[in-house]
Amino acid sequence: MIQLTEIKKTYQTSNGLLCAVDTVSVQISPGEVFGFIGFSGAGKSTLLRCINLLERPDNGAVWVDGENFMSLTKKELLKRRRKIGMVFQHYNLLQNATAFENVAFPLEIAKVAQHERHHRVLQCLQIVGLTEKAHDYPAKLSGGQKQRVAIARAIVTNPKILLCDEPTSALDPQTTQTILQYLKRINKELGITIVLVTHEMEVVRNICDRVSVMEKGKVIETLDMSEETLSPQSELAKYLFTNGGGI
Ligand SMILES: Nc1ncnc2c1ncn2[C@@H]1O[C@H](COP(=O)(O)OP(=O)(O)OP(=O)(O)O)[C@@H](O)[C@H]1O
Ligand SMILES: [Mg+2]
Repeated sequence: MIQLTEIKKTYQTSNGLLCAVDTVSVQISPGEVFGFIGFSGAGKSTLLRCINLLERPDNGAVWVDGENFMSLTKKELLKRRRKIGMVFQHYNLLQNATAFENVAFPLEIAKVAQHERHHRVLQCLQIVGLTEKAHDYPAKLSGGQKQRVAIARAIVTNPKILLCDEPTSALDPQTTQTILQYLKRINKELGITIVLVTHEMEVVRNICDRVSVMEKGKVIETLDMSEETLSPQSELAKYLFTNGGGI
């Protein structure tokens, strides 16, 4: 379980202090696909990065599986982070490494033995349907294929949690569907909890069990997507959910 309690993150900017995340509390259950949606600048990415402390909150607590992440040592935190995969909008692949080498990279860092590494990389490339592209460089892959390599890399260390920051925002609608199908399978078949940031309602409808709507650093509403009739309360949620509004 992921429990964020009264998370606050402020940045010093040339215009003074900017509160990117303002006292957010959210609880995410194991096995859930949990989304954050909101306009640009709402604080979604900052909040997501607070989960594995890539951003350290100024205030509040981050609990993951009963552990207070804020009280871990640097070394302990690095170890925990291996169990939290990350996927980004622009894939963040190493350009001078093949798909195979990209996926193998986290295992090298974790000093996993070569034969085990090899087996595990092939397994993950198979999960995302890219066995045939193992020895291609990113430049030769389509956007969707690059994102599938990034997903394989994110799950190669057997994480319990996958953090996805706008994983489909650079992709066309059809490729978006493909990526969402892979994420769904990873969630269901591998039991990985997914926390996903998006500005696309289609993504929320397609994959999320619950979604928090963010505005100006705050979670203004959380909706359960399994409910037959959603009854959004805030203006922003009404806009998003009733008009199918795009942002
Ligand atoms: N490192 C930083 N230094 C200063 N300000 C920052 C930093 N990171 C984020 N911000 C500011 O914090 C606010 C929230 O940013 P964040 O990237 O979390 O928003 P977002 O909801 O992910 O937006 P987008 O949809 O555009 O990705 C923005 O006003 C942004 O400019
Ligand atoms: Mg963002």
